[in-house]
Amino acid sequence: MLVPAIASNTNYEFAADVRGGLTLRGQKELPSKYLYDEVGSALFEVICHLPEYGLTRADERLLRRYADEIVDRVAGPVAVAELGSGSGKKTRWVLEALSRRQPTSYYPIEISRSALRMCERELGDIDSISIVGFEREYLDGLREIAAHRQPGQHFFVLFLGSTIGNFDRPCGVKFLASVRAILSPGDSLLLGTDLEKPAAQLLRAYDDELGVTAAFNLNLLSRINRELDANFDLRQFTHVAKMNYWARSIEMHLQSKRRQRVSIPAAGISIEFNEGETIWTESSHKYSTGEVCRMAAAAGFRCESQWIDDEWPFAENLLITE
Ligand code: AVI
Repeated sequence: MLVPAIASNTNYEFAADVRGGLTLRGQKELPSKYLYDEVGSALFEVICHLPEYGLTRADERLLRRYADEIVDRVAGPVAVAELGSGSGKKTRWVLEALSRRQPTSYYPIEISRSALRMCERELGDIDSISIVGFEREYLDGLREIAAHRQPGQHFFVLFLGSTIGNFDRPCGVKFLASVRAILSPGDSLLLGTDLEKPAAQLLRAYDDELGVTAAFNLNLLSRINRELDANFDLRQFTHVAKMNYWARSIEMHLQSKRRQRVSIPAAGISIEFNEGETIWTESSHKYSTGEVCRMAAAAGFRCESQWIDDEWPFAENLLITE
């Protein structure tokens, strides 16, 4: 079952965010959440299979290996809410472990309808798991689900795949605190975090040989063309991945190959790009295990356990509300 998006002011919001980000005085930027339209979500699925991008496989390996152990440390009976389910493939291990204990309700929350559909198809066959998808922003969806909490029920929230890394560090803590504010004592959050690794390895992961990440990034411009009637010439922009050593993140940018002007009628703007100028489209922050526990504590969680992958540094962190 799918609970669809409420009103359709999505295009208006998209236009406003594009106008805001591209008319900034210094660095132009676009919010990374807009990378995930139907084409972007499909390209992201391909990225997860690339040999250079080990993050998703590490996440999945940990969940496959430790799902029973993780579920045993969570207070039951629980309802599971997942923030950004994607295809739902890696969630299977957690849901199967839970289904061996009790019938469980699973609420994936996604802004992408196509990802929700994929997730329902992927997980619909697990016995004793009922799925209700919410086409919402993460916190709106979680609030709506928590408002219908059954007496004595705990929530087990999943925020996997290091999506937290797409927030800057202060916003990451703020986001965790907002999740905490919706939860009750004894609820838990399983947070997946990509750990720090050598720059060369990260640069390969975010600028793969096949050019899938480049296509994922450039698709944002073609989405603006499709949805806001813009005239970006995609051949005049290049995907660039670069380290930000100060922020301990890797950034994706779209760099203009020459001086050019682009008009975006539905956003009411016409924008000039200089040769070499970039639009910053995403940051992916990397963490140490200690730092994750400090962030969790600052947001009102206790770090109960951490599981670390030995092939691709990545941590599954079980956080319990204090
Ligand atoms: C979804 N998110 C955690 C991915 C990441 O690694 O930051 C998105 C991504 N961007 C480029 N490759 C993958």
